[in-house]
Amino acid sequence: MNSNTNLNLEDGNLNKANSLIISIISNKGGVGKTSIAICCGIYFAHRQNKKTLVVELDSSPGDFGPLFDINNDNSLDIAIKFPDRFKNYVKNIYKNLDVLKGFSNPINAESIKEIEIQTLFHLMSEFYDVIIIDTQTVLNGTIIDALKISDNIILVSESTIESLSRISELISILNNKFLIDKNKFQLIVNKKRFFDLFKVKDISKILDFPVKGFISFDKKFNKNLIIFNQNSFIRSKLNIEVGNLINNFISSGVINEFAGKA
Ligand SMILES: Nc1ncnc2c1ncn2[C@@H]1O[C@H](COP(=O)(O)OP(=O)(O)OP(=O)(O)O)[C@@H](O)[C@H]1O
Ligand SMILES: [Mg+2]
Repeated sequence: MNSNTNLNLEDGNLNKANSLIISIISNKGGVGKTSIAICCGIYFAHRQNKKTLVVELDSSPGDFGPLFDINNDNSLDIAIKFPDRFKNYVKNIYKNLDVLKGFSNPINAESIKEIEIQTLFHLMSEFYDVIIIDTQTVLNGTIIDALKISDNIILVSESTIESLSRISELISILNNKFLIDKNKFQLIVNKKRFFDLFKVKDISKILDFPVKGFISFDKKFNKNLIIFNQNSFIRSKLNIEVGNLINNFISSGVINEFAGKA
């Protein structure tokens, strides 16, 4: 634990943050986790006018460095070391949307203690209304710690039987081994093409976990627009569909906007 932090770690309050925390996970690479995390960030910052942070828990390596032009001196490594100075290490990318780049070195991610993650998120959640966590395909201790303090976990699958059944296994591991509440999970299918809808409906009958939403394949989508042409990113089909999906989750009570607020 870092001496710069004046929090009382004995008070037991560090487990629960004040902001709404949503993690985006999948056990398949390239499924759209980062794109969806950024669209969620835009949804809360732009449509809901909330102070929002997207944190990258991906050191495989992640995308945020090249995508947002952030160097290794401003990353999760340093924010974990000096948690009460986290504001110095985040980058504002759009109105009230900030991002925090992931660990510059995957070895660093392995040595982080649960209390360090809790402390950083606790401090960040006093400042942000919403924190979105983008993760890497291979889970590690840090991601598990972050999932434990997340209010909602969005699992992203492709519309193949292999991808959906692997996601189903992931849910049972997270639930049985790491005791993460099954009610936190929302399974969605990304990159859906027209005929996939019928296929997924069939597949989901044999899964014990319902598919809660679909995002279409958007052949024009380009993540880089978030930097080079934000209006075009906001107008993209993918961004609009992710926004509508999150909006539905909120109106149906699946996501509680005020989670964590006293
Ligand atoms: N709905 C979609 N339609 C079309 N392309 C998409 C869609 N979602 C994501 N993509 C594209 O798929 C690629 C992978 O997306 P992304 O980087 O968001 O996935 P990821 O799961 O974060 O990958 P990684 O496992 O490498 O972290 C990108 O080129 C992105 O533009
Ligand atoms: Mg990614």
